[in-house]
Amino acid sequence: MKSAHLCLWLLVLSTVTELVSAFDPFSTAWSSIISNFFYKGCEDKLVAFNSSGLEDSLQTKLFGQHIASKIILKTVSGFMNNDNPKKPLVLSLHGSSGTGKNLVSSLIAENLYKEGMNSDFVHIFMSDIHFPHVSQVDTYKTQLQQWIKGNVSSCAQSMFIFDEMDKMHPGLIDSIRPYLEHYDKLDGISYRKAIFIFLSNAEGSSLTETALKFRNAGRKREEMELKDVEKLLLLSAFNNDNSGLWHTSLIEKNLVDFFVPFLPLEYSHVIECTMAAMKAQGLQLDIYIADKLATDMVYFPESEPVFSKQGCKTIGSRLHFYMEDV
Ligand SMILES: *[C@@H]1O[C@H](CO)[C@@H](O)[C@H](O)[C@H]1NC(C)=O
Ligand SMILES: *[C@@H]1O[C@H](CO)[C@@H](O)[C@H](O)[C@H]1NC(C)=O
Repeated sequence: MKSAHLCLWLLVLSTVTELVSAFDPFSTAWSSIISNFFYKGCEDKLVAFNSSGLEDSLQTKLFGQHIASKIILKTVSGFMNNDNPKKPLVLSLHGSSGTGKNLVSSLIAENLYKEGMNSDFVHIFMSDIHFPHVSQVDTYKTQLQQWIKGNVSSCAQSMFIFDEMDKMHPGLIDSIRPYLEHYDKLDGISYRKAIFIFLSNAEGSSLTETALKFRNAGRKREEMELKDVEKLLLLSAFNNDNSGLWHTSLIEKNLVDFFVPFLPLEYSHVIECTMAAMKAQGLQLDIYIADKLATDMVYFPESEPVFSKQGCKTIGSRLHFYMEDV
């Protein structure tokens, strides 16, 4: 009799435990209910997407990147105009620093969110800052997954930018892979409206080589097509060096929609960037000053110094120095 009682109690107890654990505040079902209840989502913080707006930004702010510009406009517009995308938009931007990768990320953000890059829905991760210690990779993995999950459940149209992807621990990349795939829903959350952007400097030098070869063959830079550099971006992924490791798994599964090349910039592009910076800062356009600034930049390779070493980086701040100089 007593043991029957005990059995019953044990049964009740285990049922209660099961019920409680089903409503564990950390379980996904529960947290998505909470987030739906507390967050109104981000609908009222989004810009009505207008592809001519993006086209306009690309034309007036991004210079010397005819391949990147075309891919970005097509893929972002296609994605935004699709009410039911099958997977999140995943773009991998490659090129040396100063060639426009960050600029493109902010142009996309400005065309999506009212507050642009300052929006609460844009998340930037830098390996040196957010994931500095290799020994803590496991902690970072869990944290990153929770961040992505938490942010996408409060705003489906969240944007995640991973800067210096080439320095990112491959384990971390693996941890975000499930979110990039063609799942309808993962634990009750759909990631298909999110945007993931990977930035990498690692392939800069091979892009420079290709651009130089084109130049030396007497061909116009604008004749260069995606297919001329795409293989190079894909191949470098399979190199044994650390920089390649990360995107191997992304390529194998075809999770990246596009590998977007950013070519090294020449003197004429530095001039364009400078004029645009003058305009943005409300200064009088002055080609004499632009030429002075552009001429003072460092160009490479040594044998044939045609590409700006810093691209268009730092031009905004350099400008003040040259303006005072007049
Ligand atoms: C889209 O953007 C273009 C260029 O910025 C602008 O002229 C046009 O009025 C916009 N259209 C809509 C529907 O907002
Ligand atoms: C969203 O991501 C940020 C990091 O950018 C993180 O600090 C925050 O906790 C995340 N929010 C949620 C709800 O997970």
